[in-house]
Amino acid sequence: MARVLSQETVGEIEKLFSRYPTRLAVLGPAIHLTQKQLGHVSDAAANELAELLKIPPTRVKEMVSFYTMYYDRPVGRHVVRVCRNLSCQLRGADRLLAKAQETLGVQLGQTTSDGRVTLEHEECLAACGTGPALWVDGELKENLTDEKLVKLLKELP
Ligand code: FES
Repeated sequence: MARVLSQETVGEIEKLFSRYPTRLAVLGPAIHLTQKQLGHVSDAAANELAELLKIPPTRVKEMVSFYTMYYDRPVGRHVVRVCRNLSCQLRGADRLLAKAQETLGVQLGQTTSDGRVTLEHEECLAACGTGPALWVDGELKENLTDEKLVKLLKELP
């Protein structure tokens, strides 16, 4: 069966071995590198990572399913996470989420048909005083209004 991890990704992961006390400790960075190459961690990629790190495949899958920044399924080129926790809710997160769904034409957890954006939710982005907030590909956006949100979503390439 063809390997899914490129030689470049495997090489980058192997370079980390000398910097961490155990191969298990490399799992987080290895998942990041896998996602950098593939966009998500498929079952095949999880199995290859497990083999490389000499750990059971379930350890990889547990980590991927636990942390929200890891994906076990394909996602869009951009991932937008709208905070819907209390402080942001009090500042209009529900309205903002509805606007994001309307603008993108998707529901929470879905990806636009052109593969451009996946819409997710988050429980707190540590920007409670400057909500409503969201996260776009790891970058925090605060004090959002409907207008700012629509502009931001439309400008994502
Ligand atoms: S509640 Fe939204 S950032 Fe904390």
